[in-house]
Amino acid sequence: MRKPLPWKTAWVTGASTGIGREIVLQLKAAGVRVAASARSPEKLAALGPGVLAIPLDVTDAKACHFAAEQVEAELGPIDLVVFGAGTYAPVAADNIDPDLFAHTMNTNYMGVVNCLAAVAPRMTARGSGHISWIASVAGFMGLPKAAAYGPTKAALINLAECLEPEMKLKGVLISVINPGFVATPLTAQNDFEMPFLMQPEEAGRRTIEGLAAGRFEIAYPRRFVAILRTLRALPYPLFFRLITRFVLKAK
Ligand SMILES: NC(=O)c1ccc[n+]([C@@H]2O[C@H](COP(=O)([O-])OP(=O)(O)OC[C@H]3O[C@@H](n4cnc5c(N)ncnc54)[C@H](OP(=O)(O)O)[C@@H]3O)[C@@H](O)[C@H]2O)c1
Repeated sequence: MRKPLPWKTAWVTGASTGIGREIVLQLKAAGVRVAASARSPEKLAALGPGVLAIPLDVTDAKACHFAAEQVEAELGPIDLVVFGAGTYAPVAADNIDPDLFAHTMNTNYMGVVNCLAAVAPRMTARGSGHISWIASVAGFMGLPKAAAYGPTKAALINLAECLEPEMKLKGVLISVINPGFVATPLTAQNDFEMPFLMQPEEAGRRTIEGLAAGRFEIAYPRRFVAILRTLRALPYPLFFRLITRFVLKAK
C-alpha cells in the first residue's frame, strides 16, 4: 500500500470507534505495534489480537500517566501518538448549558493536554518522537451549532502552534489533524447533509500518510478545507451573511 512507516510503536486514543479505530487498524496492518485507548474495554477488545487495549478516560490526568507507562512497559518506547478522543453535541444559540461546555472542553482539550503531559517528557528525554492530535476544520472559525465543540478544536490548533517550534528543537515533531466531515458515530447525530463527507478508512489513510510525511497540519478533504479557509479570510459582515444563507437557512 505504501512505503514502510517510520514508527515501531504507536499509542492512539479515541481508538474504539470512528477515525481513531481506523488509524489503529491501518497502523497494525502496516506492522506497527499499537496500543489503543478509549473508555469502552469491549470495543477495544474488538480491535482484535495484536493491539494492546488500554481502557482510559482521558479526563483523568493520573490515569493518562499510568496508561503511557503501561504502553512503554509492554511495547517499548512510544514513537508516535495520535490523540483522538473527542465528543460533540450540537448547541442552539439560546440554550447554553455550562456543564456541556465544560464536559466538551475537558474531554477534547484537557484530554489531549493530559495525554501530552504523560508522553512529552518521555519523548524529549529521548530526543525523538511524534506527537499528534485530532482537532477539526471546526476550529478554523465559529460555526452554527458548534459553540461547545468549535472552541475546543480552535484551542487544540493553537496549542499545536504554541508547542511546535520548541518541541522540534528537542527532536519531537508536533502535528495537528483537521478533518472535515467523516462518517462516524460522532457525526451520525447531525440532522443536515454533510458536505464532502468522507469515510473513516479514507480519513485514517490520509492521516497516516500526512504523519509519515512529517507534516505539521494534516487537513482534509482538500476542496472543503480550501472553501473554509477562503470563507475565514472574508470580512465579518460577508462571512456572517454567507453562513446565515448557506448554513442556517439551507435546511
Ligand atoms: N467525524 C468527524 O467528522 C470529525 C471531524 C473533525 C474532527 N473529528 C474529531 O476526530 C476525533 C474522533 O472522532 P470520530 O468522529 O471518530 O468520533 P467517534 O467515533 O465518536 O470517536 C470518539 C472516540 O473518543 C472516545 N472517547 C470519548 N470520550 C472519551 C474519554 N473521556 N476518554 C477516552 N476516550 C474517549 C470514544 O470512545 P469511548 O466512548 O469508548 O470512550 C471514541 O473512541 C474526535 O476528536 C473528533 O472531534 C471528527
